[in-house]
Amino acid sequence: MPASSTFIPGITLVVMSTVLILVLAQNDTENVRLPEPDEVSHVKFQTGKYDTVDSYMDNSTGFPTLTKFSLCVHIKYHHMALNNTLLSYFASGQDNELSFFTNSMDANTLQLYCCGDRVRNYLYYPIRMYTWEHLCVTVNLETKLITVVLNNDVREYTVQETKSDGNETKPLVIRGGGRLVLGQDLDSADGGFNIEQILPCEIADFAIYDVVLTLDEIRSFMACDNQIPYEPILYIDQQMSVLKAVGETAVSYIPEEEICATSSGYKLMFPERVTFWGNVAWCQMLKGTVILPKNEKENTEVYDKFFPYREECTDRWRTFYYFGTVRNVTTDKWFHYKDKSPIVYQKFDVQWNKIVSQYECAAVGNHLFKYTWFAIPCSSAMCSACNFTSSPRLRVRGLCDTSILDSAYYLNDYYNRRPLFDGEVHSRIFWSNNIWELRSRRHEDLSATMETKNSKVYPLGRHTWTIAGDKCTESKITLLMTPCNSDEYTCSTGSCIRKTSRCDLVIDCPDQSDELNCDVVNVPEGYSSTLPPPKITKDPLALAFSLRIITIRKFNLVGFSLVVDAVMSIKWRDSRLTFRNLRRNYRVNKVKDMYQLWTPKILVRDGSRSAADVQLRSEAVYVILEDSPLPDDITIVSEDDRYSGSNNTLVMETESTLEFTCQFQLQMYPVDRQNCFLLFTLPGLSKDFGLLIKDEDGVTFEGSRYLLEYELVGETLTEEMEGRFSLMQIRLEFRNLYGYYIGNTFVPSLFLVIIVYLTLYFDINDFEDRVMVSLTSLLVLATFFTQTSSSIPRTSYLKLIDAWYVALICQNFLVIVSLVVVENLRLRDKPMTTRVTPMGVKSYEGDEVLLYKKVNFFLKFVFPLMLFGILTSFFSFWSRN
Ligand SMILES: *[C@@H]1O[C@H](CO)[C@@H](O)[C@H](O)[C@H]1NC(C)=O
Ligand SMILES: *[C@@H]1O[C@H](CO)[C@@H](O)[C@H](O)[C@H]1NC(C)=O
Ligand SMILES: *[C@@H]1O[C@H](CO)[C@@H](O)[C@H](O)[C@H]1NC(C)=O
Ligand SMILES: *[C@@H]1O[C@H](CO)[C@@H](O)[C@H](O)[C@H]1NC(C)=O
Repeated sequence: MPASSTFIPGITLVVMSTVLILVLAQNDTENVRLPEPDEVSHVKFQTGKYDTVDSYMDNSTGFPTLTKFSLCVHIKYHHMALNNTLLSYFASGQDNELSFFTNSMDANTLQLYCCGDRVRNYLYYPIRMYTWEHLCVTVNLETKLITVVLNNDVREYTVQETKSDGNETKPLVIRGGGRLVLGQDLDSADGGFNIEQILPCEIADFAIYDVVLTLDEIRSFMACDNQIPYEPILYIDQQMSVLKAVGETAVSYIPEEEICATSSGYKLMFPERVTFWGNVAWCQMLKGTVILPKNEKENTEVYDKFFPYREECTDRWRTFYYFGTVRNVTTDKWFHYKDKSPIVYQKFDVQWNKIVSQYECAAVGNHLFKYTWFAIPCSSAMCSACNFTSSPRLRVRGLCDTSILDSAYYLNDYYNRRPLFDGEVHSRIFWSNNIWELRSRRHEDLSATMETKNSKVYPLGRHTWTIAGDKCTESKITLLMTPCNSDEYTCSTGSCIRKTSRCDLVIDCPDQSDELNCDVVNVPEGYSSTLPPPKITKDPLALAFSLRIITIRKFNLVGFSLVVDAVMSIKWRDSRLTFRNLRRNYRVNKVKDMYQLWTPKILVRDGSRSAADVQLRSEAVYVILEDSPLPDDITIVSEDDRYSGSNNTLVMETESTLEFTCQFQLQMYPVDRQNCFLLFTLPGLSKDFGLLIKDEDGVTFEGSRYLLEYELVGETLTEEMEGRFSLMQIRLEFRNLYGYYIGNTFVPSLFLVIIVYLTLYFDINDFEDRVMVSLTSLLVLATFFTQTSSSIPRTSYLKLIDAWYVALICQNFLVIVSLVVVENLRLRDKPMTTRVTPMGVKSYEGDEVLLYKKVNFFLKFVFPLMLFGILTSFFSFWSRN
């Protein structure tokens, strides 16, 4: 009994397991088939819903020692890991005995490690998504040559040895007997796989040969015309004789032409109905063109591909999608809509086209008329069918630094009859339950939904997303998904313009959005406009000052005041700020609201330290572009170039009318020179924090230098210190234009003096005339004097012009006095009776009359001397100024 009781269950176990094995074997033999002659092996890794480390091909037959080999494979990327490990070989305790992997999209490299980590080569390999790429790498460790052929692009490299371990003399060799897997990275003999090092791809016709293939052999592989005469040491078949599929890995055979089919563009349909020009704009936005088949085959292919969407796309004309061609109705010829070249292929329904010769657009027919082209109006609404060179790549901005969401998406597939936005690594955005939803292939709890009221809207452009399971602090964020490159700006409509066209006061976006939000400063949170900018170095903040005097409005000599129009400019840097959208011409970079920024408060005073009367005309703050932009930060939604506040300069330009007093010194009037001063100070900022310094321009004057009476001969700017404050002193130097006084004062008054003097030459006996003329002259001179005095300031001191008049009047006065003296002398000496003198007697009068004549004669010399004295002393003063 005990024997049978153990025996029967034992039998059952054996029978059951045999049945199981048989069933399994039968299943196996059912699935396993031999390839057709034109078929090659095909492996799809990561077939499950989520990425896994349990998807790879494992080699069970052992691997020989190699000094040269060739690897050929067709590969098609669907996603991307951090390191896409094509092959990893672990031997003799070395995990990089041989490995091939590529990095992310932008790295453009295929890395080859081998020989116990003694060799590391970075090979050029630009990855394209969703297309079959053909790759062969041959490595000869004896000649140290590597050849990489990627889609018939041949590049040669020499083996790069890492010089670290002192084994350089030993020959390079790949040691045999290890473990080799495809699709995962071995860190040890029994795995140690990492989810960041998987291969989310399809590969086909994988083979490794222990010889170096010739270029012809490689080319035959590339062309799917496999003429390689060697037996590969590693290959894939469905029997898994050499490489065994593990986990979520599918092995099958596919026809070779599927891999090598020359693709004529990459076609996508967007099942949203628009007019022809809407279609053009949509395709252009994604950097594609409207479909235009070049031959019968393409025409059929495109139609068949888009066939599933005909229901929602067909319009009332029973047509389905547009072709990229327009008709010239005058000549009745069809042209490519963009480059206006005649089209090379067409399949129009001729009869119909004759009837509707006024219709300018073409579309494909439906149902009975499939593949046939019809002319229809361009306003008809159908779906957009676009042709791309490769799958459109869309970038996402606004994700935080730590976010695990993908920042690049591709349009390749459909889900729920709408395009699927497939993330580069693991995220995917799809249409489900009337919302756009994001899910991940890596993180089960990561999800996001897009907020939109319009069900026709795509995730393209700016949208608010609610994200759960990400590593960012905020769950509701605005993201921008854009097809534009990093040197482009995305309009609200989604189209791209060059960044330099943004905010240049010219409208470039169809919706004018490129001229919106053009303010040039970003004021950070916590910025205080009352606090001056922090010091950048240990020196105080430098405020470069310059003044541009536009004109001198008024020069009021009597009122002792001066009015000037001037533009003051002060330059400084504020490291707290960042700028954006800066242009070379700084006048375009005007700060919209200057009061949100700290600006220097300048006090203007005159030479006597009293405040000047400032009438503000305009003030503005601009940003001068001086440095290249900061590196692009994709965590910021805005694509605008940003510039640092510490390397670009703010400039405040204040135009004002300044009225200030000037202490005129008139002693030398009218040959005087005047100095007027203007002082600019920063009352709130002591010299330890802010220092006014002279800008290179200093002070400039633009107006006319000739005022009515004065000429501006010089303007200078000097840096001064006044206690703890720095100060800019501007000196304006004026010179009197005395030409007026020469014609109006000096010459006439001189003439009058001469006239008075000339009376000495009158008949000495005609006192009446002499005195009349000289008195009149004196009177006129006095009148001149009062007249002149009234138009110039009255001063307690004598001005030069006063001195001149006083001197002349004195001289005149003296002449008159001397005339009277001479007359008196004459009258005294003149006898009252007539004297009779005998003939021939010499007159004795001589001695008596001589006196007054002598005096008169003497005066004729004295007065010119006196006048000469006056003139020389006057000119000596004159020339001194
Ligand atoms: C990917 O490869 C690089 C070497 O290029 C390596 O530094 C990095 O650690 C690898 N990443 C992962 C996740 O293993
Ligand atoms: C797509 O574009 C390619 C390259 O410009 C062109 O050769 C091809 O004919 C186009 N195909 C269609 C269907 O428009
Ligand atoms: C149509 O063709 C005529 C003649 O070649 C040309 O003058 C005209 O500009 C064309 N019209 C359009 C809209 O291209
Ligand atoms: C400013 O310019 C200097 C010198 O060119 C540079 O070293 C520094 O990194 C720049 N600062 C910023 C914030 O860009």
